[in-house]
Amino acid sequence: MNRRNILLSAILFPAVMAFGQQYGGMWIPTELNEKEMKDLGMKISAKQIFDPSKPSIKDAVVQFDGGCTAEIISAQGLLLTNHHCGYDNIQSHSTVENDLLTNGFWAKDMNGELPNPGVTVDFIADIKEVTAAVLEGTQNLDAKASQELINKNIETVKAGFKLESWQKAVVRPVYYGNKYYAYIIETYKDIRLVGAPPQSIGKFGSDTDNWVWPRHTGDFSMFRIYADKNNKPAEYSKDNIPYKPKYFLPVSIKDKQENDFTFVFGFPGRTTEYLPAIAVEKVMNETDPAMISVREVALKTLDEKMRTDAATRIKYASKYASVANYWKKWIGEVEGLKKSDAVGKKKQYEQSLIAKNAQIKPTIDELNRLYTEQSPYALNRSYYSEVVRNAETLTLANQYLSFMQAYEAGKIDEKATTAFKERLSGFYKDYSGELDAKVTAKLLALYANKTPLQFQPANFSQYKDEAKNLATVESWSKNSVITGRHALNGATVHTDINKVFSNPAELIKTLKNDPIIQLASSMRETYFSSTDGKFAALQSQIDVLQKKFMAQQMETDKDRKFFPDANSTLRVTYGQVKGSNPRDAVYYGYQTHVAGIMEKYVPGDYEFDVPKKLINLYNTKDYGIYKDKTGDVPVNFTATNHTTGGNSGSPALDAYGNLIGLNFDRQWEGTMSDINYDPRFSRNIMVDTKYILFIIDKYADAKWLINEMKIVK
Ligand code: ARG
Ligand code: ASP
Repeated sequence: MNRRNILLSAILFPAVMAFGQQYGGMWIPTELNEKEMKDLGMKISAKQIFDPSKPSIKDAVVQFDGGCTAEIISAQGLLLTNHHCGYDNIQSHSTVENDLLTNGFWAKDMNGELPNPGVTVDFIADIKEVTAAVLEGTQNLDAKASQELINKNIETVKAGFKLESWQKAVVRPVYYGNKYYAYIIETYKDIRLVGAPPQSIGKFGSDTDNWVWPRHTGDFSMFRIYADKNNKPAEYSKDNIPYKPKYFLPVSIKDKQENDFTFVFGFPGRTTEYLPAIAVEKVMNETDPAMISVREVALKTLDEKMRTDAATRIKYASKYASVANYWKKWIGEVEGLKKSDAVGKKKQYEQSLIAKNAQIKPTIDELNRLYTEQSPYALNRSYYSEVVRNAETLTLANQYLSFMQAYEAGKIDEKATTAFKERLSGFYKDYSGELDAKVTAKLLALYANKTPLQFQPANFSQYKDEAKNLATVESWSKNSVITGRHALNGATVHTDINKVFSNPAELIKTLKNDPIIQLASSMRETYFSSTDGKFAALQSQIDVLQKKFMAQQMETDKDRKFFPDANSTLRVTYGQVKGSNPRDAVYYGYQTHVAGIMEKYVPGDYEFDVPKKLINLYNTKDYGIYKDKTGDVPVNFTATNHTTGGNSGSPALDAYGNLIGLNFDRQWEGTMSDINYDPRFSRNIMVDTKYILFIIDKYADAKWLINEMKIVK
């Protein structure tokens, strides 16, 4: 290595490799690696991040509506999260005349903030390890008896907490049941929409740029928490007042440098970092490719129509985005697992563990046997579930089937029927039977061609031919009540669903004769008799062994610092602001700017249009205090924080605990981090606080919000 290369590699992967971050890490906030964090540059203490008895940063971090993360950035409960996390709420306030998704929304003052019934935020008041109490007495029991006692012990542990009326206790396993933690949760229920940029900023680049770096998305929206007059949680009331937080995050608009220390605090959903090589191999070579192939067909079919028909585009926008999101993620995941040789490295790791502890060999041998035996069932499970999810006519048919069964068993009352009709109406709003007949026809052919005979209903091979299916399914669909293309009692499910349901006995008779329902029913029966039970039985054996394997890894690999897989509980991940070198001769910088938005600008495009006002700000360089040393406003940046789904909306903080960014995505080359974090390629993507404030201040003229914040210059 010459001097330049040494320098370059020091910039690209300096300390990271030498630190515990080699395997990533999503740490429980009561068990932080304070020393390593300080070595990397942190200037505050672990106590300042999490302290159950004094205000600390954790008091500003909440789980947003059960999925995403959000943070408090003012003394009056102002909340920041992603645009894609607030999307449903922004959409629900939108009408054709007043389209907040397209135009954006900014309340003029607190009176203009919009309530969102049902939306909640959860605070974590405390975290306690409760392993001993949960596992007490289970040592010599078999798996079933042990689980029963664990469930009982969990109830006892929960009952042991002295809770306020607005608190609840939840106990969650980590390390596959080798440890348990209790969480004291406080839920606020009056959450109002304060502001959101237009989609052309908040979702700039849409699906094309999703999971991709370099990125230029202003993926943020703002809400406010309201409380009763004692500052406690309350249902929505116009008498509620802005919540006064124990702590809120100062917002930094300082310039960033590569290698700056940063940490992300939030609620990552699910990772599986400790699986055996065989499990990763199955995901990479079998289940991921199966799921990708199904979505590929569905997306392509929808896209053709969406591109030529505006009404369809709007109808399917949100569904398309969610199907495309994981389709694209899985493709990146498979590539990344291959490129980082995840399986090879895991195999090597297993051998090194066995060399230190011979007892691990039988565990791994048995896991290999079980995963191999489970593999055909796992593969069929992936195909089946993706086919019935993406062929929406089959999704519908399955819902009607459940309704029919409940009805015939006398298990459905007026209330349940109403709930079912409401669910259906929501579904029909964004469903086109005609379009989906095409998707269903193609997916039936895919399933008939890809699934071994043992998993197929009788005579299912008649669906191997796509062209033939197109005609068959179209004629079924046209004559079916469930697609809304055929009337019953003089109405369709689109025109008057109550009328369609007005004579349940007659409806059930019609449904029983519907060939779509008959097909869905035989597919379901065959799936359950051939696959579901076998898969689950093997999975419970795998779970027992995975727990053992986890414990063995922890006992044997003394040099490694283990962190529990994500499970939607509060975690801290840390790293450095950093670019990457994802491919030979390709170097990604760590920061994008407004000029890059203009490079991507395609006038009128549904993904890359830019609002006029932003173009004007760019042309006049009206950047105020939000530009950085380059003279431009930074938009997004990357770092080595180990994040996953659920970390969207998480605060990215600097060495002093000031907010510097809003997490929203990861880069394509590193999405295998859910299974095998690789510090060379895994990067999280954040919106720069400078861009957020620039949009609020210069674009939205919402200075009253800036004035509420504590800005660190
Ligand atoms: N990929 C990010 C995450 O998994 C953002 C998804 C929202 N954006 C989109 N274009 N679908 O949630
Ligand atoms: N976009 C993800 C989320 O919504 C974050 C990620 O998967 O990196 O939580």
